[in-house]
Amino acid sequence: MKLKLKPAIARRPRAMMGKLASAVRSKIEMEKIRRRGGPARIRKGPPEALLGLRRFVANPRQFGGFVSGPALAATITREIDPAAGPVLELGPGTGVFTRALLARGVPEHNLILVEADPMLAARLRLAFPQALVLACKAGSATPEMLGGLRPAAVVSGLPLLNFPGREVERILAAAFSFCTADAAIYQFTYGPKCPVREEIMARMELSAQRTARVWRNVPPASVYRITRD
Ligand SMILES: C[S@@+](CC[C@H](N)C(=O)[O-])C[C@H]1O[C@@H](n2cnc3c(N)ncnc32)[C@H](O)[C@@H]1O
Repeated sequence: MKLKLKPAIARRPRAMMGKLASAVRSKIEMEKIRRRGGPARIRKGPPEALLGLRRFVANPRQFGGFVSGPALAATITREIDPAAGPVLELGPGTGVFTRALLARGVPEHNLILVEADPMLAARLRLAFPQALVLACKAGSATPEMLGGLRPAAVVSGLPLLNFPGREVERILAAAFSFCTADAAIYQFTYGPKCPVREEIMARMELSAQRTARVWRNVPPASVYRITRD
């Protein structure tokens, strides 16, 4: 007799295996870095831009683009109130925005970093040992994984323009569901408008406001504040 599973049920074990595989790969990467000299090695290099280039070559669609410069990092984090509570960072990559958040006064233990690339997640764990680092896709994170932390803001370095609409929707819905009611998502883009499509914004009852253009970034970028209506 053929066993017929509903598609959602059939997909779930695969998703769980994916999360597990990502966590295991991240642990293996951590061990490799430790053997090569530990966190000191991370501080020494390779230079961030080179590391970003390597990760881009390894997975162009996922890495998305360039490592952001300090001007963009300072701008995308400038509205974050360090006293408001934990901050969720999506796609921290090499940790450019993470360091800007720390410079703004957000305590390291109040950072939740969600990074899909297991190699980068391993580096983040070693570089920011007090932060909660989740080696998984932003849309598949669950409240349990956040261990009861309730972010007051989200900073995103995700290459949203590379993602299909339903994935963007999943990521936004998950991020807002973790956060306090008045939390905003700060997202940058190299494009001429908000990287979340208008129909998604309307369906999810969200608003976007451009807070800045950062000409001193390569390439120049815009920062958007996305909030619930
Ligand atoms: C363009 S890089 C930005 C890194 C850094 N925030 C910056 O601005 O330099 C995008 C990062 O998002 C990560 N990423 C891509 N898709 C993701 C997803 N679905 N969930 C979590 N991280 C993701 C990539 O691995 C990469 O580290």
